[in-house]
Amino acid sequence: MEFKKLVSTRRSVRSYLSGASHEDLEAICKAAQQAPSWMNQQTARCYVLETPEVLESLRDAALPPFNRGSSANAALIVTTFVKGIVGFGPDGQPVDDIGNGWGIYDLGLHDAYLILAAKDLGYDTLIMGMRDVSVLREKLDIPENEELISVIAVGRSDTVPPTPPRKPLDETVKFF
Ligand SMILES: Cc1cc2nc3c(=O)[nH]c(=O)nc-3n(C[C@H](O)[C@H](O)[C@H](O)COP(=O)(O)O)c2cc1C
Repeated sequence: MEFKKLVSTRRSVRSYLSGASHEDLEAICKAAQQAPSWMNQQTARCYVLETPEVLESLRDAALPPFNRGSSANAALIVTTFVKGIVGFGPDGQPVDDIGNGWGIYDLGLHDAYLILAAKDLGYDTLIMGMRDVSVLREKLDIPENEELISVIAVGRSDTVPPTPPRKPLDETVKFF
């Protein structure tokens, strides 16, 4: 899809008909790997939930009711990053006041690529920040050195939500 159209038509969708195929989920995760990262450290990690049994049990256990309903029928990708690498020096100390915030920054870029790649393959997405981290960590065996950030629904939808308005540019951008 042409880039301008891709960016302008991507929406957070809260109603799905079906999930994504295994091949497409793999392609989406591969595209996300193309995102830039601090010294190419690539600390982002994906846990892809695609089988109906896993999806059903984890959606119920790890999502609040509104996100459970919004993501019904979709596949889920849990994204994490390995802590203590990006933004840290060889001595293991943070290089500045941002610390693991740099890992979150890299993961945000990774996830942005992920949702745009999904859109390009004809899928819609919903990033969900409201999730039960301890349930997901236990059930997916996510190690303690990874920070679990988001759960992203990926699926086919026939819903086209309205575009939530953006702030005027002069409120968010300063030119010098
Ligand atoms: C970090 C993050 C967390 C979010 N968490 C949720 C969530 O838990 N549930 C939900 O319905 N939407 C969630 N959203 C979606 C936002 O509400 C949505 O991106 C915003 O309203 C703009 O709409 P758009 O994505 O269609 O442009 C989240 C988005 C981001 C980036």
